[in-house]
Amino acid sequence: MITQDEKKKRAAEVAVNYIKDGMVVGLGTGSTVMYLLEAIARQGLKISGVTTSKKTSKICASLGIKVNDIDNVDHIDVTIDGADEVDVYMNGIKGGGAALLMEKIVAKNSKRNIWIVDDTKVHDILGTFPLPVEVVPYGSGRLLKKFNDKGLKPILRMDKNKLPIVTDGGHYIIDLHLNAIDNPQNLAEYLERQVGVVEHGLFLDVADVIIIGGDKNIIKERK
Ligand code: A5P
Repeated sequence: MITQDEKKKRAAEVAVNYIKDGMVVGLGTGSTVMYLLEAIARQGLKISGVTTSKKTSKICASLGIKVNDIDNVDHIDVTIDGADEVDVYMNGIKGGGAALLMEKIVAKNSKRNIWIVDDTKVHDILGTFPLPVEVVPYGSGRLLKKFNDKGLKPILRMDKNKLPIVTDGGHYIIDLHLNAIDNPQNLAEYLERQVGVVEHGLFLDVADVIIIGGDKNIIKERK
């Protein structure tokens, strides 16, 4: 049996083969992406990275990976990112690392999106992982009440000092502890209608390829 970390590493090592010198590459956030960044640096790939968080920018700087502002590139060839949960339809939940807003902006501006996950994250339907919703701090208490009244089991994400965590964009995160999301499209549309919601962690029809690291790696491609 290999560890979850080893599975993440395996997925990242497969994903690096999708990158060629000269590409503009969207770089996700999280521990799986960390393995990808290490592989890019180790192979000396000459890419221009577009990062999805301050954290990833910092790691790129330390590894000598060139980074460009999203507004200074005319296209993004491919984005490689992790995910917190994926379903059989290649939809996913992201935002466990609180970087969902920038991750979605980079993903939606990319020609191709590849996710790297370990096999423990694959479920028939989404919802085991709490769904992150990024909200404006002002009025976030009202949103919490509204989500609670709707039975969405919201919890404001706190840091180790019991203060609300603040995202790179200056927002809070409300996690919805749903266990099962029967209709992700409906829930996404509901969340998008709520004033004060900046973005949510449902990434529907975004991934073109999912690389699942495990005892045997699996590569899923959108038809
Ligand atoms: C960041 O906000 C998330 O979307 C990450 O991509 C996700 O949490 C995956 O993280 P790990 O690779 O650390 O599991």
